[in-house]
Amino acid sequence: MQDACAPEIEKDARSTAEAREKRVFIKTFGCQMNVYDSERMADALGAAGFVETGAPEDADLVILNTCHIREKAAEKVFSELGRLRVLREARRQNDGGNLMIAVAGCVAQAEGEEIARRATVDIIVGPQSYHRLPELIERRVGTRGPVIETEFPAAEKFASLPAPKLRAAPSAFLTVQEGCDKFCTFCVVPYTRGAEYSRPVAQIVEEAKRLAERGVREITLLGQNVNAWAGEGPSGKIWTLPDLLAALSAVDGIARLRFTTSHPNDMSDALIAAHRDLPKLMPYLHLPFQSGSDRILKAMNRKHRMDDYLRILDRLRDARPDLALSTDIIVGFPGETDADFEETMRMVERVHFAQAYSFKYSPRPGTPAADRAEQVPEDVKSERLARLQALLFAQQTAFNAAMVGRTLSVLWESRGRNEGQVVGRSPYLQPVYADGDPALIGHIADVEIAGASQNSLRAVIKNLDVYAT
Ligand code: SAH
Ligand code: SF4
Ligand code: F3S
Repeated sequence: MQDACAPEIEKDARSTAEAREKRVFIKTFGCQMNVYDSERMADALGAAGFVETGAPEDADLVILNTCHIREKAAEKVFSELGRLRVLREARRQNDGGNLMIAVAGCVAQAEGEEIARRATVDIIVGPQSYHRLPELIERRVGTRGPVIETEFPAAEKFASLPAPKLRAAPSAFLTVQEGCDKFCTFCVVPYTRGAEYSRPVAQIVEEAKRLAERGVREITLLGQNVNAWAGEGPSGKIWTLPDLLAALSAVDGIARLRFTTSHPNDMSDALIAAHRDLPKLMPYLHLPFQSGSDRILKAMNRKHRMDDYLRILDRLRDARPDLALSTDIIVGFPGETDADFEETMRMVERVHFAQAYSFKYSPRPGTPAADRAEQVPEDVKSERLARLQALLFAQQTAFNAAMVGRTLSVLWESRGRNEGQVVGRSPYLQPVYADGDPALIGHIADVEIAGASQNSLRAVIKNLDVYAT
C-alpha cells in the first residue's frame, strides 16, 4: 500500500543523521507483554547502532508499541500519530532533518492497512515481526510509502532476538508464551498475536540466567495464557508450567517468581501444588473470571462456569492459605441483564480480591460479540462499572489495611519520589514505600508495615542488619 503523504527517505539525509548516534524513542501502550516487547525492540535496534532516548524531540526514530484490546486504547494511536506529524514537520523546517515513525504492536497487526491509509508512517510492524526492525528501516530508506510487516510465526522472533540488555530494575518480565487459541468472543488477542506458541525450556532458562547475572531478583513469566505454556524440555519431552517454575527456582540469584495471565481452565493440579511446594513462587495469582453469570460466560465462550472457578480457588487456598487474588472483569457484555451483573457483584463479595481490573465491554471489529444485537447502552455500562469498582476498591483498601503491623518481605526496586525514599514490592505485589538508603535497591528484607492506603503500603525499616539477601 502506497501512502501519498509519506516522503521518500533520502539517502543523503540519512547519512547526515549517521554522523551522530541514532536515537530511538519507544512509547508503550497496553499489557506487560508490550513492555517486554519494547525492551526487545530496543535490544534489536541497539545491535543496529541505535541508543534509546527518553524524549521524542531527540529521536531519529519513534516507535509506538500499540494495544488494540479496547477502542480507547486503539484510538490513542491516531492521536499520537497526529502529534508526531507536527514534530516531524517542525524538524524538517528547523534543520531539514527527518523523523522516522514506526507503529508496532497489536494495532499495527490488526489495522496495518488502515494506519497506512490514515497517517504518515514509515514502518508498520506486527508483534511477531519486530526482530526485523533494523532490516525494515533499511528497506524504508529510498522507498516510497510505508513498509508493512505483519507475518506471524513467533518462534523465529525469539530465536533471532539478541540477548536482553542490562536494565536497572531488579524485577523483570520474561515472555514464555505468546498468542491465544481460546477465542473468547469479546477479545482481539487471538487475531493480533496469533496461535499459541510456547518458547522452549532451554531458551527461557538461558534468558533467566542472564537476567540473574545482571542483578535481577524477581522474574514474572508472561503469556496471554501463561498457564497453558507447554514447551520443549531438554530431552524433547514437553514440560508444563510447574516444571518450568521448578527449574527457574533453581537459577542462582532468582529469589521470586510470578506468572501472568492465567486462564481458569488451565489451572492444573500440578500448578496448584506448585503454590504449596515452591517457596520462590509468590503468593499472588491473577486469575480473570470476566463475569459472575454462567449465561454470560457461555456467550463469552469462556468454557468455565463460576462453580469451576470457585472450586479452583478452594484448591489454591488449600495449597497456599495466604494466596492473594487478582482478576479481570467485564461489565456490559452484550445481553448482560441487571440480574447477570448482580451475579458478578456477588462473586466479588464472595471471593475478596486484593486487586482487580474492571472494564466496560468495548465492541472490537472482527470479534463475534461485536455483531450481537443486544448491546448494552453506555450509561448502563458506566453505572455498573462504578458500582463494581466501588466494591473492588473497598476490598483492595481492606486487604492493604490488614497488612498494618505485619512483617512482610520487600524487594526494593527503585528510589521513591521523595528524597531518601525507596520503593519496593511485597509478596502480594503491593508497592511499599519507606525511608531508606538507595543501596537497598535489589535487596529483599523483612520490614514492618506501618501504614496503608488503597494503592500502597508504608513500611518502617528498623534493622538494617537484616539486609543480607
Ligand atoms: N489473556 C488474558 C487477558 C487478556 S486481555 C485472559 O484470558 O484473561 C486483558 C483483559 O482485557 C481481559 O481479561 C478482559 O477482561 C479485558 N478485555 C479484553 N477484551 C475486551 C473488550 N473487548 N472489552 C472490554 N474488556 C476487554
Ligand atoms: Fe483473550 Fe480469552 Fe485469549 Fe484471554 S483467553 S487472550 S481473554 S481470547
Ligand atoms: Fe493490548 Fe495486544 Fe496486550 S491488544 S493487551 S497489547 S496483547
